Amino acid sequence: MTGVPHASLALQAALRQVSAEIDRQFDTLLAVPSDPREALYRAMRHAAIGGGKRLRPLLVFATAQIFGVDRSCTARAATALEAIHVYSLIHDDLPAMDDDDIRRGKPTVHKAFDEATAILAGDCLHALAFEILADPATHADPFVRAELVAALAHASGPAGMAGGQMMDLEAEKASFDLQTVTRLQALKTGALIGCSVEFGAILGRVSAEGRTGLRGYARDVGLAFQIADDILDAEGDEALVGKKLHKDGDAGKETFLTLLGLDRAREQARLLVEQAIEHLKPFGSEADLLRDIARFTLERDR
Ligand code: IPE
Ligand code: IPE
Ligand code: MG
Ligand code: MG
Ligand code: MG
Repeated sequence: MTGVPHASLALQAALRQVSAEIDRQFDTLLAVPSDPREALYRAMRHAAIGGGKRLRPLLVFATAQIFGVDRSCTARAATALEAIHVYSLIHDDLPAMDDDDIRRGKPTVHKAFDEATAILAGDCLHALAFEILADPATHADPFVRAELVAALAHASGPAGMAGGQMMDLEAEKASFDLQTVTRLQALKTGALIGCSVEFGAILGRVSAEGRTGLRGYARDVGLAFQIADDILDAEGDEALVGKKLHKDGDAGKETFLTLLGLDRAREQARLLVEQAIEHLKPFGSEADLLRDIARFTLERDR
């Protein structure tokens, strides 16, 4: 990805490396066949390759590296997670949901192709994610693979991302309080961010007790990230962010911003980042990348 002004040099280098790795993985996995499925593959490539911050894959790498996990296993698990994220964005942009024309600075999939192809491209990326995880190339131990599959299924289904998306649709009709908005965001955005860190811990065979701090970190980073998304929606630069802004306000939705106001929302996000970093106390410099990512969630301009 190009210029990330507020990221540390180490974070910028890691982002570049991880982005290139994820592009490579999708390029191999999504080779276009010369048959009537060609447009389907092109649509998946349009959405999956060459865009986005790759924050979730980066979290997988940053966590896995603490435990010395093999990089090719990490890359596959990270690609599965990003595949779910990309599918969620394709469907989020559909006319039946947010009806958006621009994503990651390019036309959305249903604009570049058509709605039916966009729905199927999302379906296929969803399936691809689990196919990657179930493959022995992702991890030699079937118990580890099963744990990855279970974690991603939980984080993307009704108790995770898709459930949060449903609450988000309801938010247009109801007037949610802070507690409900926090739960909505914990599912919509937090679940996949949490799963990214969990993937690193699963691959690293970290014990249940050993995961407590990492889970606390992921919860706080997820919320701070969503507060930043809300602030960017209200105040960001569309050219930098690469998607249409002012959607939340126009839809009359309660967000962290409408409930807290800009100053308190910023302050809350800052406290969450501090708290996230506190959770990493048991770790030394091997967790510095996770600390940098926490700061970046807030300082980002896209
Ligand atoms: C956008 O996620 C949707 C939310 C869950 C807020 P990102 O801001 O991570 O989008 P990309 O991957 O960088 O495009
Ligand atoms: C969508 O949330 C989050 C997903 C699970 C895809 P938003 O609708 O707020 O995401 P943006 O702002 O379009 O990226
Ligand atoms: Mg949405
Ligand atoms: Mg949207
Ligand atoms: Mg948003």
